[in-house]
Amino acid sequence: MSDQLKITDSRTGKTYDIPIKDGAIRAMDLRQIKVSDDDFGIKSYDPAFKNTASCISRITYIDGDKGILRYRGYPIEQLAEGSTYLEVAYLLINGELPTRAQYEEWEHNIKIHTLLHENTKKFMDGFHHDAHPMGMLVSTVSALSTFYPDAKNISDPESRRLQTYRLIGKMPTIAAFAYRHMMGLPYIYPDNELSYTGNFLNMLYRMTEREYKPDPVLERALDILFILHADHEQNCSANAMRSIGSSQADPYVATAGAAAALYGPLHGGANEKVLRMLNEIGSVDRIPAYIDKVKSGAVRLMGFGHRIYKNYDPRARIIKQTADKVFEVTGRNPLLDIALELERIALEDDYFIERKLYPNVDFYSGIIYQAMGFPTDAFTVLFAIPRTSGWIAQWEEMLNDSEQKIARPQQIYLGADKRDFIPMSDRG
Ligand code: CMC
Repeated sequence: MSDQLKITDSRTGKTYDIPIKDGAIRAMDLRQIKVSDDDFGIKSYDPAFKNTASCISRITYIDGDKGILRYRGYPIEQLAEGSTYLEVAYLLINGELPTRAQYEEWEHNIKIHTLLHENTKKFMDGFHHDAHPMGMLVSTVSALSTFYPDAKNISDPESRRLQTYRLIGKMPTIAAFAYRHMMGLPYIYPDNELSYTGNFLNMLYRMTEREYKPDPVLERALDILFILHADHEQNCSANAMRSIGSSQADPYVATAGAAAALYGPLHGGANEKVLRMLNEIGSVDRIPAYIDKVKSGAVRLMGFGHRIYKNYDPRARIIKQTADKVFEVTGRNPLLDIALELERIALEDDYFIERKLYPNVDFYSGIIYQAMGFPTDAFTVLFAIPRTSGWIAQWEEMLNDSEQKIARPQQIYLGADKRDFIPMSDRG
């Protein structure tokens, strides 16, 4: 006999056997539990999906208690050590690591889509000089939907593949143009002789030189950061991507929606907030007072805590190691001393121990980004570029899953009962 959950409804005395598969029961199996024929049946109530699986996925595995993260079965540590971001993007979307020939074709197809339509530049020029780069990115990715109406053919795998190349290819260009706009600098076109991250650095930082040569240490460090940020299973933005995609909207507007979810300070926007927090603390001797403020509930320790990780985020560990290599080139970021001491004090404090609050991916990434010359406002954009491959992988999986339908949660209605309309003239 298969595993079952026996439920007795105290209202009726009836007993139900609910099948358990893969450690879960199907919420729809609860619907049969009714007090009468016209009763809707039992629903599960789970604000913020704290214990609800919204899909079956084969992309990313996390064991939050043990601090394990794997893409398609491969440990994140091994991918960060031996892979490149574009290879990881292929893995996430296609399920397997590419052969050399497959990789070369993949890289070629992405690189030939790095240019933006010239009208996109005009669109971006319309933003105010101090527009936040995430606002520019979200709007511009969404605008791509109007340039590529063929993207509506979401049931055509060839069309989906083309939009995938375009999205992965154009994200760094949009991000770099947003940065250049912010700095009042001319846009730099892609140089496809360079690697994915090398070209991104070129579009950001090239000035009057004929050829831009990225520093190999910084280029590799950025590639590692991109690998670490590529996917993270059903987080807020992946859920937004799936939810918007479930209405069969095109992938550009769905990606814009996912990026908007990422923008928030509790999600990808946290890297920006960490830097602002470290600047606010200002010096190591002011840390205890800041920790007291966190414990009183006045502020959150940004870059700490996670819905899934109740252990050290494995991405934070790799970022910490990468930071040392970056600082050899850029010089040490003085904020690192504050971050290290903050982490040391927090990890010894009962408040953080009891709540299992550890540094997450955003705690150290901003310190590296700042050392590499990125303005604080641009940090979340650096998260959005690599996460695009994860969003696409989640979207593809959702579209190919015959069980998925338009996302439409239930609610528990506790509002007013039926009442008659009162004309305004009769209202007191
Ligand atoms: N600082 C202080 N207290 C915290 C923090 C924090 N960063 N995070 C959680 N807590 C406390 C919270 O106050 C609560 O305490 P109590 O039980 O006394 O009310 C307890 O820990 C549980 O918190 P929660 O808000 O129920 O946890 P959650 O799973 O809903 O939130 C989180 C997860 C990431 C939103 C939260 O930890 C947080 O706000 N962290 C700071 C923002 C941050 O760094 N976000 C980046 C997440 S990693 C990148 C990504 O994948 O997006």
